[in-house]
Amino acid sequence: MTLIYLLVLVALTSVNVSCKSAYKICVPSQYLKACEEMLEVPTKSKAALECVPARDRVDCLNYVQQRQADLVPVDPEDMYVASKIPNQDFVVFQEYRTDDEPDAEFRYEAVIVVHKDLAINNLDQLKGLKSCHTGVNRNVGYKIPLTMMMKREIFPKMTDRTISPKENELRALSTFFKQSCIVGEWSPDPKTNSAWKAQYKQLCALCEHPDKCDYPDNFSGYEGALRCLAHNGGEVAFTKVIFVRKFFGLPVGTIPASPSTENPDEFAYLCVDGSKKAIRDKPCTWAARPWQGLLGHNDVLAKLTPLREKIKQLADYGATTKPSWFTNVLGLSEKIHHVADNIPIVPVDYLDKANYTDVIERGHGPPEPLVRLCVTSNVALAKCRAMSVFAFSRDIRPKLDCVQQASEDDCLKNVLDNGSDLVGVDDMRVASASKQYNLHPVFHEVYGDAKTPNYAVAVVKKGTSANKIEDLRGKKSCHNPFGSFSGLTAPLYYLINKKIVASDQCVKNLGNFFSGGSCLPGVDKPENNPKGEDVSNFKKQCSGDSSALQCLQNNGDVAFVSSADLSNFDSNQYELLCLNRESGGRDSIANFVTCNIAMAPSRTWLSAKDFLSDVSIAHTPLSLAQLLDKRSDLFNIYGEFLKNNNVIFNNAARGLATTEKLDFEKFKSIHDVINNCGIGQ
Ligand SMILES: *[C@@H]1O[C@H](CO)[C@@H](O)[C@H](O)[C@H]1NC(C)=O
Ligand SMILES: *[C@@H]1O[C@H](CO)[C@@H](O)[C@H](O)[C@H]1NC(C)=O
Ligand SMILES: *[C@@H]1O[C@H](CO)[C@@H](O)[C@H](O)[C@H]1NC(C)=O
Repeated sequence: MTLIYLLVLVALTSVNVSCKSAYKICVPSQYLKACEEMLEVPTKSKAALECVPARDRVDCLNYVQQRQADLVPVDPEDMYVASKIPNQDFVVFQEYRTDDEPDAEFRYEAVIVVHKDLAINNLDQLKGLKSCHTGVNRNVGYKIPLTMMMKREIFPKMTDRTISPKENELRALSTFFKQSCIVGEWSPDPKTNSAWKAQYKQLCALCEHPDKCDYPDNFSGYEGALRCLAHNGGEVAFTKVIFVRKFFGLPVGTIPASPSTENPDEFAYLCVDGSKKAIRDKPCTWAARPWQGLLGHNDVLAKLTPLREKIKQLADYGATTKPSWFTNVLGLSEKIHHVADNIPIVPVDYLDKANYTDVIERGHGPPEPLVRLCVTSNVALAKCRAMSVFAFSRDIRPKLDCVQQASEDDCLKNVLDNGSDLVGVDDMRVASASKQYNLHPVFHEVYGDAKTPNYAVAVVKKGTSANKIEDLRGKKSCHNPFGSFSGLTAPLYYLINKKIVASDQCVKNLGNFFSGGSCLPGVDKPENNPKGEDVSNFKKQCSGDSSALQCLQNNGDVAFVSSADLSNFDSNQYELLCLNRESGGRDSIANFVTCNIAMAPSRTWLSAKDFLSDVSIAHTPLSLAQLLDKRSDLFNIYGEFLKNNNVIFNNAARGLATTEKLDFEKFKSIHDVINNCGIGQ
């Protein structure tokens, strides 16, 4: 493959290619401005660049495949995702290396270090040893050792489907090794994390702080694993070459030898064949993490040289001042900004020569566990599949699988029949669907910078005398539309619960309570008022666009809205009534989490009872959301997908969280109270 590309390259560079047109670099749209600033940078190269914005890096790969863009900076994991796109002709044509090791083939190479006299001549004898690791889920200290140890008969099987893949790994490691130090967050769910740390505590025994078993720990990280080996009773350490050399004071790349109190002659590298190699010699390695780099389509090969020069000059320019585009557009960093030309190579071959495909595709033994998400549209299916490949490339297990059904009800049935594991429902459907199909909630969306659920709130004018619900009797009310949780369900439930409104004829009674008149949009629709009752009192305060805000601005005394709407309300003019507090009172709009009527049901994913433990099913989506929390430039899963909004997740979502049983039971009781409470009932 490589040879073919070389020939193509030689053939094409000898032709006189017109270089007039600009090279299009794809950039996540949030960094378009940074990219445009980059275009202003004067360089010796006259090659022209153009910034092409896309949703995120995943979208950029599609842009490059379709020739809407020419190149995009990528991590090895993105190269894996790229290799799975149909009909692609991608090539990796430049590598991003460090100044310390400008000539190294790989970013880092995984090694095993042991005491030189350790009696071992075969990898199976690693069993029962005390092991030192960089941290959970990390490459050389966790993923790579697991990838190669699980190939051996002696390593415990990880195929117990009653527990999650991650727990299978932890259990296997804790059985295989006598004691270890593997710090970090073992589960994105805090409760599961502590439960596992208690259950598999041998995995923390060699840490500086076994009880915490988290960063920072003197015996974690690349160098910490070696300290654990040398000074804390460890017998084997999994780390990377460059840190071994630094630890023992040996020269690395361009860095000269430095004094060290550690003696390299006391230790050795352990090789795949069970032999040992001196620390001072060239190491034997297991797998490597390839450098990050630039990926383009095959046509860029025809005009590569000017582009490469341009990128190098930009990298050199940015290395001193570190403008935003340095990291966010070119994908370079403080450490990694030596741009090297490599022989153009297709992504799969690039990963394979480092044994890194094996590391990415690491499984748990057949049959590989899946978590199956039910969706109801072609576009949701496409997004689900894109999330699946992306999450898989970033070592998130179980693998996400996607099932399509015609409707939400079909999905709910499908989950019940074990055709899939998860289905997302909105609003109060979480209560009715879980009842109807005997499903239970697993995780839900959270919103806003504070990543909270939404709340139903009561907004009043600042300086009002109202402190409690009774103070609103006879007043004028404004509501979000009929059928919404914030506009009708929450205030009704509250009034019924306080025995202010009787639960029969409740909508009518609500009208009697707010006898000053209300605005409840949609109240007169036939489907909401089948008996055609007189609902004129609920239209009385409507004006303009009939929004609750407009109603409040006009004449209303209280607006029942969602915390999601609060950005429209001026906090100098309005505040919240704290109906959730026994003592009532008011608070500023920003404090809706503590001053509200009730928590609103978020979009929530339901699963069948007693199938896999909740946590196992939630692990993949929660891990994905957590990974992307600060890196929406990689994959903005809340952004539009193929020009559609609210695909799988609402655009407004900012994260996912495990659903608490207590909150959920509340929604069920609200559902029960409100269910028989239509107009005229
Ligand atoms: C870390 O451990 C080493 C070896 O036990 C010790 O020399 C060093 O002082 C420790 N460093 C910290 C910050 O605790
Ligand atoms: C890949 O694996 C082989 C054999 O398992 C090993 O000899 C080689 O050094 C590995 N490659 C890297 C880059 O570590
Ligand atoms: C549910 O379906 C999966 C996938 O087909 C299967 O492996 C599993 O055994 C089924 N579970 C039950 C409880 O039937």
